[in-house]
Amino acid sequence: MRLKKLIFSSNRKHKKIGKMKNSKRFVKILGVGSYVPEKVVTNDDLSKIVDTSDEWIRARTGIRERRIAASDQTTSDLCVCAARKAMENASIAVDDIDLILTGTITSDVVLPSTSVFIQTKLGLKNIPCLDYNVACSGLQYGIELARSLIESRRYKNILLVCGDKLSAITDWEDRSTCILFGDGAGAIVLSATENEEENSIIDVVLGANGEHSELIILPAGGSREPASEKTVSERKHFMKMSGRDLFREAVKIMGNCAQEILDRNGMSANDMDFVVTHQANWRIIDAVRERLGVSPEKVCVTIEKYGNTSASSCIIALDSLIKNGKIVRGSKVLTVGFGAGLTWGAAILKF
Ligand code: COA
Repeated sequence: MRLKKLIFSSNRKHKKIGKMKNSKRFVKILGVGSYVPEKVVTNDDLSKIVDTSDEWIRARTGIRERRIAASDQTTSDLCVCAARKAMENASIAVDDIDLILTGTITSDVVLPSTSVFIQTKLGLKNIPCLDYNVACSGLQYGIELARSLIESRRYKNILLVCGDKLSAITDWEDRSTCILFGDGAGAIVLSATENEEENSIIDVVLGANGEHSELIILPAGGSREPASEKTVSERKHFMKMSGRDLFREAVKIMGNCAQEILDRNGMSANDMDFVVTHQANWRIIDAVRERLGVSPEKVCVTIEKYGNTSASSCIIALDSLIKNGKIVRGSKVLTVGFGAGLTWGAAILKF
């Protein structure tokens, strides 16, 4: 009799779990946070170290200044500051995080991952930690990864962090690149919900084309060309970039993938409250805006203050819109990224 009762109750429990497994799970953005270092470097400051001018930089890029990390600040330090703010805004305890995903191209060290340093600095233990390298499309790739892992019921609260200390891989003797980049980090807490009304991720589109891998590359220090005196003297541990080609590709690719995600959801850019593109160059942002046919008020531009901060640029922009009360509950945002690889991605988010 007791045995029968036990079997009956265990079957009932099993059925309940089975039902839960079949019901669709959704993903809610619980909180967003960002961090930029204190030190401001203006265009005039740069004109003292390379042959350039404030006028040229502003006209060609829209950048006025950027933030540069202190020499003893690492990428994980920047990421931890952003992560703490995101968790505070999410009202979630750090112990409730069950996975850390970090998008970075400037890991603290080559081995191990930056995520493990973030884990330790946050006082977390044992939860899985994973870095991924897609450069400036890190937000869109990270959202897709987090969404899949939450929807599959493997994880509940994911800390997605994108951060870079680009100043560490910038050639400060190369005027064609050093004017573009800045340091910063952004973080998002994504959590499981069974309530479809709370779903924040409407759709994501990703892509990559390795045929253009040489357009922006840090050539040495990997297995292809390990570090040597020669690679150092040839300045091969800094980013090399074909600016004009990248400009053309960025406009084309970001425009295409934004249009693709809008089309497949039966939406137009004007259905969005905001469009947040990767902040690489004001002229690129404006060309994508024109292609999508949206008014300038709907497009967030933070590049003048921070330059190109890689994957964190879209999160820093989202965070500024939230802080200024422009993104509110129910706001729809199209975010589009583009980066080394080449990689790209677009996501439609609902807050
Ligand atoms: N200050 C003054 N002159 C500069 C300069 C600087 N910082 N950098 C380049 N120049 C000069 C060039 O030497 C060139 O001179 P020349 O005509 O005598 O040869 C001239 O300015 C024009 O250079 P060009 O490269 O054609 O300028 P541009 O209008 O394409 O702007 C970038 C250059 C880099 C700003 C622009 O191409 C760009 O933003 N590209 C995309 C980069 C990007 O997004 N990278 C990250 C991808 S995630």
